[in-house]
Amino acid sequence: MLVGKVVKKLSIIMKETLRYLAGIAGPSGYGSNSTAEQVTQDSSSSLFSLPNSQLTAIVTGATSGIGAETARVLAKRGVRVVIPARDLKRAGEVRERIQKESPKAEIILLEIDLSSFASVKRFCTEFLSLGLPLNILINNAGKFSQKLEFSEDKIEMTFATNYLGHFLLTELLLDKMVDTATNMGIQGRIINVSSVLHNWVKKEHFCFTNLLNPNNYNGTRAYAQSKLANILHAKEIARQLKGRNARVTVNAVHPGIVKTGIVRDHKGCITGMYFFYRLYTTMTLIICLVSNIFGRENSKSKLISFSNLPADSLFFFASKLLKTSAQGASTTCYVALSPKTEGVTGKYFADCNETNCSTLANDESEAQKLWKQSRALIRRHLHQAKQ
Ligand SMILES: NC(=O)c1ccc[n+]([C@@H]2O[C@H](COP(=O)([O-])OP(=O)(O)OC[C@H]3O[C@@H](n4cnc5c(N)ncnc54)[C@H](OP(=O)(O)O)[C@@H]3O)[C@@H](O)[C@H]2O)c1
Repeated sequence: MLVGKVVKKLSIIMKETLRYLAGIAGPSGYGSNSTAEQVTQDSSSSLFSLPNSQLTAIVTGATSGIGAETARVLAKRGVRVVIPARDLKRAGEVRERIQKESPKAEIILLEIDLSSFASVKRFCTEFLSLGLPLNILINNAGKFSQKLEFSEDKIEMTFATNYLGHFLLTELLLDKMVDTATNMGIQGRIINVSSVLHNWVKKEHFCFTNLLNPNNYNGTRAYAQSKLANILHAKEIARQLKGRNARVTVNAVHPGIVKTGIVRDHKGCITGMYFFYRLYTTMTLIICLVSNIFGRENSKSKLISFSNLPADSLFFFASKLLKTSAQGASTTCYVALSPKTEGVTGKYFADCNETNCSTLANDESEAQKLWKQSRALIRRHLHQAKQ
C-alpha cells in the first residue's frame, strides 16, 4: 500500500519533471519553454485591445530579472507601465532599454521601498494623484535574506518586503482597480508572484507572530513562508472580490526557477535544492527501472555512487536547466494579458498553466486568518505613525 503510494508519487514527479525538461505544452498551449513574448502574442485580439482603452499596469521589482522582462513585454504590447522602485537610477536604465525597443512606450517611475509601510503609502498617494486608471497590478518584487534583518517597522525583512508591502499596496489600490474595471468595462487583474517553495511550509511553523519576529531564523524557510503568504493573500482577495461582484481577478504564479539576482544572491541554495530534488528523484527512478529491467544486481550501489556526485557539478548541471528571464516572465504575462485567463480567479499557475498549490495554500480559513492579522498589524502601525 505504502509502496504503491510512493511509486505513484514518484511517477507523478517524474512525469512533471520530464514535461518541464522537454517543455511540453499544457492545456493553455504553452509550457516551461514559452517566453513572455510568445504567450502575449494573442493579447492584441483580446478584450484588452478595445479602442481608446490603453491599459495601465504597476509592476513591482521591475528593476531587474523577471519584473524587468515583464515590464518590457507589457510595454511592447502597448500597456502603460508604472515602475515603483527604491533605486530610481536602475529603474531609469530599465525605462531607457524598453524605450529603445518600443519608442512609444509610456513608462512612469515612482519611488517605493516595499519593506516600509510609510513608503508604500507614499507611493500609493503619489500614484493615485496622477489620476490614471489601473488595470493590472503585478506584485513581483522579492527578496531573500540569508541573515535575520528587520525592516524600519521592526518586522522580519523577507516577510515585510515580499508579503506585507504587497498586502498594503494591494489594499490601497484595490478600489482604484475596481473603479477602473467598471468605468472601462475591462476586467482588472492582480498577480502575486509566489514560488513552488511555498510547498515546503508546514502548518505548525506558519505562525503570524513568529513570521514577524522569528526566534530561530532560517533564510530559505522565511522565503518559503513569505511565498505561501502571497498565495493565501491572492486566494483571500479573490474570495472577497467575488463577494463584491467586482470585475477584478487575483491569481498567484510560480515563475519557474530563473537565472536572476534572487537566485544568484543565495548561491544556488533554492535553485540547487529544488532541481537537485527533482533530478535526483527522476534519475533514481530511471536507474532503478533500467536496473530492474536488465536484472542488474548492483543498482543500489549505483544509486549510492550517484548520490555521492560532487554537489558543485550537480549545481552546475542544475544551472543549465534554469529558465531565462524571457521564460520566467511568461506565466505572469500569460495570466496578466491572455484572453484565456479572463474570469479565472483565486488560482495558482506555473509554466503558463493552472496547477495545484499545497494543501496549506488552499486552506480558506488560513487565508482569512492571515488577511485579518495582516490588516490589523498594518492598521496599528499606520495609526501609531500618525500620532
Ligand atoms: N528567480 C527565481 O528562480 C524565482 C523563483 C520563484 C519565485 N521567484 C519570485 O520572482 C520574483 C522576482 O524575482 P527575480 O527572480 O526577478 O529577482 P531579482 O532579479 O532579484 O529581482 C527582485 C526585484 O525586487 C526588487 N526589490 C527587492 N526588495 C525591494 C524593496 N524593499 N522595495 C522595492 N523593490 C524591491 C528589486 O529591486 P532593487 O533593484 O531595488 O534590488 C528587484 O527589482 C520574486 O518575487 C521572487 O520571489 C523567483
